[in-house]
Amino acid sequence: MTTVRTNQPTMGAVDFDLFNLPSSYYENPYPYFRMLRDTDPVHWNSDGSVLLTQYSDVRQVWRDITGLVYKSEQFCRRFGEGPLLEHHTSTMLFRDLPDHDRLRIIVNPFFSQSSIQSLEGFVREVVDRHLEIVGEMGEIDFVRDFAFRLPVALICRVIGIPLEDADYIQGVGRKVLFPLNPVVSPEAIAEGHAAVTEFKNYLRPFLNQRQRRAEIDPMADVICSMVAAQRSGVEVSDEEILHMCILVLNGGHETTTNLISQSIHYLLDDPEAMTQIRNGAVPIGMALEELIRYITPLQLQGRRTTREIVLDSGNGIVPADTEVVICQASANRDERVFEDPEKLNLTRKPNNHMGFGAGIHVCLGRPLARLEASIALPAVLRRFQKIERAGPAKFAQNTRFRGLTELPLRLI
Ligand code: HEM
Repeated sequence: MTTVRTNQPTMGAVDFDLFNLPSSYYENPYPYFRMLRDTDPVHWNSDGSVLLTQYSDVRQVWRDITGLVYKSEQFCRRFGEGPLLEHHTSTMLFRDLPDHDRLRIIVNPFFSQSSIQSLEGFVREVVDRHLEIVGEMGEIDFVRDFAFRLPVALICRVIGIPLEDADYIQGVGRKVLFPLNPVVSPEAIAEGHAAVTEFKNYLRPFLNQRQRRAEIDPMADVICSMVAAQRSGVEVSDEEILHMCILVLNGGHETTTNLISQSIHYLLDDPEAMTQIRNGAVPIGMALEELIRYITPLQLQGRRTTREIVLDSGNGIVPADTEVVICQASANRDERVFEDPEKLNLTRKPNNHMGFGAGIHVCLGRPLARLEASIALPAVLRRFQKIERAGPAKFAQNTRFRGLTELPLRLI
């Protein structure tokens, strides 16, 4: 077991501002989270929102069904009117009851554990194909050449679009997602608007093609499941179907890519844990939950309170009508819940991490993410008995989706 490098925060809690972060935060945000948990667990940001970092507070707000996610006013101020606003106010991720449940119920069966398990053969095929490719390259960027390839291929299969379009939709999808970060340039917002229009135009022919079919299998892919729902009289518009596809792409590829690439990154610093996975000494399911806790690929979430929340922890109150930033990345390292939280301990038990969220918005795609990573990680480690760093790993400047932009490796 290894302890992560812990640099010191370059400021005290009172000066911490989510909207003006020091560069060391992107390298390693965990010392900042620890400082906030210990000295300012209900931290007011410069924009009037409140940042929660302790496990108990994060879980309480996440599970509170009176908390809202619909953000049309806030997003309108940030994005202006247009396609980007339309997208981020149309998907279940940013819809409250009853619309959230109306949309989620349609696709829930497709994403059930048993339905996703049927993709196992496909996942193994994709993993093997890409391992062959990187094996011949020898020296690779693991993010670009492997970790990015698998999730997007899976998402193409799940949505029901050609695998050859993976690179294209990945590029467009990221432009839709990026403007959700706390600080974004006007150029990135303009690109986001254009990307939503482009993505919808790309998807529409696939939707129309399904709608023309005489017979439709709701378990074939996401588009089919939603068209079948339309036919059976469920209220769901064509636009909502298109936005659902964009959400599934964006919810499912960057997070899983970041999980796979950071898993290898941290395992390289921990040869004992790497061997445990390579040899199957620890059940992969158990090891994976610890990697998800430790990495927490999606780090922050937002809720707006509709009533005053008295925090069970005794940390104080969150007033009604407050934007709350939930920091699950900090909650997953809370020493009040996890013993030695900075240690990667593959046999950790219990491990009630919140990497996939909590409450009604709990991750729809978690069976898929678990399937992909539990096949890919042991496969990489068994195929290459020796893996060395071929240069420094680089983290993206992204506060929500923490991930590597580069992980140069030599595979032997
Ligand atoms: C390691 C990979 C993943 C992580 C860490 C992750 C994390 C999360 C989290 C924390 C949420 C809760 C958001 C909130 O409460 O506001 C969420 C929701 C969601 N995730 Fe994932 N996710 C992953 C993979 C996937 C995959 C593979 C898919 C789709 C194929 C997916 C689709 C979604 C969707 C559609 C939602 C919204 C659910 C709702 O609003 O009801 N995710 N995810």
